[in-house]
Amino acid sequence: MNGYVLAIDQGTTSSRAIVFDHNRHVVGKNQQEFTQIYPQSGWVEHDPDEIWQSVLSTCEVAIENARIQAGDVAAIGITNQRETVIVWDRTTGKPIHNAIVWQDRRTASLCQKLKKQGLEKTFTRKTGLLLDPYFSGTKLAWLLDKVPGARKRAANGELLFGTIDSFLIWRLTGGKVHATDATNASRTLLFNIATNAWDDELLEILRIPRAMLPEVKDCAANYGAAEASLLGAAIPILGVAGDQHAATIGQACFEPGMFKSTYGTGCFALLNTGSDMVLSKNRLLTTIAYRLNGKTTYALEGSIFIAGAAVQWLRDGLKIIGSAPETGKLADHADPSQDVYLVPAFVGLGAPYWDAEARGAIYGLTRNSGPAEFARAALESVAYQTRDLLDAMRKDWKASDKKTVLRVDGGMVASDWTMQRLADILDAPVDRPVILETTALGAAWLAGSKAGIWPNRRDFAKTWERETQFTPKMDEKTRKAKIAGWKTAVKRTLSQ
Ligand code: G3P
Repeated sequence: MNGYVLAIDQGTTSSRAIVFDHNRHVVGKNQQEFTQIYPQSGWVEHDPDEIWQSVLSTCEVAIENARIQAGDVAAIGITNQRETVIVWDRTTGKPIHNAIVWQDRRTASLCQKLKKQGLEKTFTRKTGLLLDPYFSGTKLAWLLDKVPGARKRAANGELLFGTIDSFLIWRLTGGKVHATDATNASRTLLFNIATNAWDDELLEILRIPRAMLPEVKDCAANYGAAEASLLGAAIPILGVAGDQHAATIGQACFEPGMFKSTYGTGCFALLNTGSDMVLSKNRLLTTIAYRLNGKTTYALEGSIFIAGAAVQWLRDGLKIIGSAPETGKLADHADPSQDVYLVPAFVGLGAPYWDAEARGAIYGLTRNSGPAEFARAALESVAYQTRDLLDAMRKDWKASDKKTVLRVDGGMVASDWTMQRLADILDAPVDRPVILETTALGAAWLAGSKAGIWPNRRDFAKTWERETQFTPKMDEKTRKAKIAGWKTAVKRTLSQ
């Protein structure tokens, strides 16, 4: 039966492909890690061809694992790590440089320079973002400036720019379609989220030729078809969204006030603000949650760079755990009388501090501090950072009141200990859904609903199911003291 949907989830550390049947059950999947390239301190790159090969091979294996033929897949939905920049040759398809990854800090000085020129307000008013190296715009400017001949070739219309989704669409369609969706565009620092168009003033400031930019479409739209020679059948690409936006959709956060948080390498929390484009006064981002049928829904976003990566550091750096699931058990044995705080500013701090120069720190160590206290501090840092975001959101948007429920997903939410501590620190219930593949599910829903084989938004939202609700159990005094300790630790860590 031609009723399957293939979701491609191209993430920061791995590419995944997931096949859903018409009942939205996962029937086949595959995942492949790829090389992280660190040419200098603070720089992070990916090889676009390695990403491309990993996408093709995961799709092939996922389809095989689902025991179906490529021709049984009705539609493809793409979701991806956002902000990461690729520039390639329009004729040969060859990238001119490695992809510069969202985590890369090489444009910190350019951002500083633009800030000193008083330009941050202009960027924020139009894009909802801040002048931070995190976003694509300054990375693209860097490529045009530093790769020999790039600026001239771009001006001649020989080069194309894209975030990962664009690059994949372009390659899958054999170079026929150069497009992106509104959510990915909204992370570039070049896209005006109020007018829903590339912004000439911003392009001029960063000296980006308009001809190299992709066409911006709705999240559920026709993005052309993947060539039969690549996946075994010509399959239409009907859904595209940045991974955090796809997770918002997969969590069915369609109503204003609904809030989701995804705990992967980093943590990204999005609060749906409906048709209100709320500009943050508390250093959060305003972003396009999704754009469907030409209608834009906005969100406030808090982006934390290190969440699961702190657990990876316990495992690979300190080697005090063998695998991530051990962390919760270890944390449970931590000495309650020790106030150990980890501020995981390994690549600077994201929202709401935005300090690219800060570096990680640990406070409160005593002679008795050991692996258990480190594990607890790492897991708690995730809860404290989420609390910082929620506090900022509440200040920014009056409608997000005390009744907030957080829907969570991502690898870290498997840990009951972490989820309970999150509810305790937030002083709000935390809902873990039955389906944890929310990012892929969101991309699949975009494609499946566009293909007419999956339910509409309202009916899809009704299928969201809770597995566990974690409710706050910590007493107010303890919570307040812990949060105060965290705030002091952050203050001591900030670079200025
Ligand atoms: O903004 C970066 C984000 O989209 C990356 O997500 O899941 O690949 O770490 P992830």
